[in-house]
Amino acid sequence: MTVKLVPLRLGVNIDHVATVRNARGGKLPDPLRAAAIAQAAGADGITAHLREDRRHIVDADIDGLMRELKIPLNFEMAATPEMVGIALKHRPHAACIVPEKREERTTEGGLDAAGQHNHLKPMVARLSDAGIRVSLFIEADERQLEAAVTLGAPVVELHTGRYCELEGAAQQAELARLQKGAALCGKLGLECHMGHGLSYADVAPIAAIPEVRELNIGHFLVGEAIFVGLEGAIREMRRIMDQARGVSA
Ligand code: PXP
Repeated sequence: MTVKLVPLRLGVNIDHVATVRNARGGKLPDPLRAAAIAQAAGADGITAHLREDRRHIVDADIDGLMRELKIPLNFEMAATPEMVGIALKHRPHAACIVPEKREERTTEGGLDAAGQHNHLKPMVARLSDAGIRVSLFIEADERQLEAAVTLGAPVVELHTGRYCELEGAAQQAELARLQKGAALCGKLGLECHMGHGLSYADVAPIAAIPEVRELNIGHFLVGEAIFVGLEGAIREMRRIMDQARGVSA
């Protein structure tokens, strides 16, 4: 018998629509149009990472998303005074604090929530006081999860990047680590999200973890959209997630 789990939210990350746009320096493809299609295709939220170097999403994209989106915006941001200021100006539904290094190609590793307590504590407090649901992008590590509680963050997003890169027994071991992390979230009262690197091939075991409430997926969907269109790519991802969750269409 399949046990019915709480439906899982899908946050579609539109950063790489902006990456393609910025490759030519013009206005197309428009990330706002991608967000509208994602919304129509059943995304529960839109995720966008305004990086310090503005390599994909730029400030005007955030203005447009806040103006036009009907579903929640999850604003990914580094823990810097500039980004806190932008978040407080816009007051998105959620802000996910991520580690950010200028030279990296994408977010590498999780935030050191435990080691950066004094730096993060006032930022989490200011964002929360403004009504923004704060999430911390961390590894599925007990010390980091406990630090999230100490920092007062209601949500954590566990990094699935390593799980997606590995294969075979090593991937199963990483999956077990994520499952354990999700279970600990349940015990600690943290809402558990996951994301990074997920594709059709590896999303189902993650979607089946009962404590997980939201997945944030971008690069694969934007790549797949080249072949089947963004709407088709999102609908298929949604179908695989729902099937893994035991939700019938
Ligand atoms: N979640 C977080 C915190 C991220 O930094 C990213 C990448 O921007 C994602 C999810 C989405 O990862 P991907 O684009 O590999 O699906």
